Amino acid sequence: MPDEKEQLQRSWIANAPAWRDAVRERKIDSRRVATDAAIIDAVMSLAPETVLDLGCGEGWLARELSSRNVRVVGVDASRPLVDAAMELGGGSFYAMSYEDVLAAGSPLQAPFDVVVANFSILEEDIGPILTAAGRMLKSGGRFVIQTVHPAFAVGDAAYISGWRTETFAAFDGEWPEPMPWYFRTLTDWVVALSENGFVIAEMREPLDAQRARPLSMIFVCRRA
Ligand SMILES: C[S@@+](CC[C@H](N)C(=O)[O-])C[C@H]1O[C@@H](n2cnc3c(N)ncnc32)[C@H](O)[C@@H]1O
Repeated sequence: MPDEKEQLQRSWIANAPAWRDAVRERKIDSRRVATDAAIIDAVMSLAPETVLDLGCGEGWLARELSSRNVRVVGVDASRPLVDAAMELGGGSFYAMSYEDVLAAGSPLQAPFDVVVANFSILEEDIGPILTAAGRMLKSGGRFVIQTVHPAFAVGDAAYISGWRTETFAAFDGEWPEPMPWYFRTLTDWVVALSENGFVIAEMREPLDAQRARPLSMIFVCRRA
């Protein structure tokens, strides 16, 4: 496993308590202001009966969707986050990486109406998650991805796809491990999706209404 990918998975284990508290205590402004509601809206607009939440973290989205009568399965590589999700319920949760999901073929009560990945595509090689999502979807199903907005998350750095580091310095709490994550330009998103059998059916840009700036990007994808 490349160093960044190993560190990425390690960070979500070491930072699990701080992440769980940040999400559950609604400490992340962008989530409170727009992105939580935006992903619920994007998924519910597809009227799914079943959803697979890839990289479900501590399970907030599964709980929200299940309270709207959706049957949810969540998977995440971080065992402590999956344990936290299981404590509050709202779905069936499994400690599995995207590679594990892919290697397992078609388990987990597949196929699903919608597969969702909410800020959980963080690696350079996104072939495994896209292939897994494609296999787990019903015919006509949708893969909904929320990610940082390529044009705004770039900050002062060069607009070139590559690894970046999140130190969580702006967050409250104890974050023992920095998280490497792969920044992708808009073009590289479109190319990666298309190389793995998806086309974008719809794009949404959830806004910070006060500043009139997008806080994220949502891709609603269908199989090509
Ligand atoms: C920013 S958190 C988002 C969690 C959740 N989707 C949410 O909205 O709160 C990213 C999540 O992706 C998971 N993740 C990242 N890479 C993964 C992989 N290769 N396999 C499984 N989970 C992964 C991490 O463990 C972490 O829980």
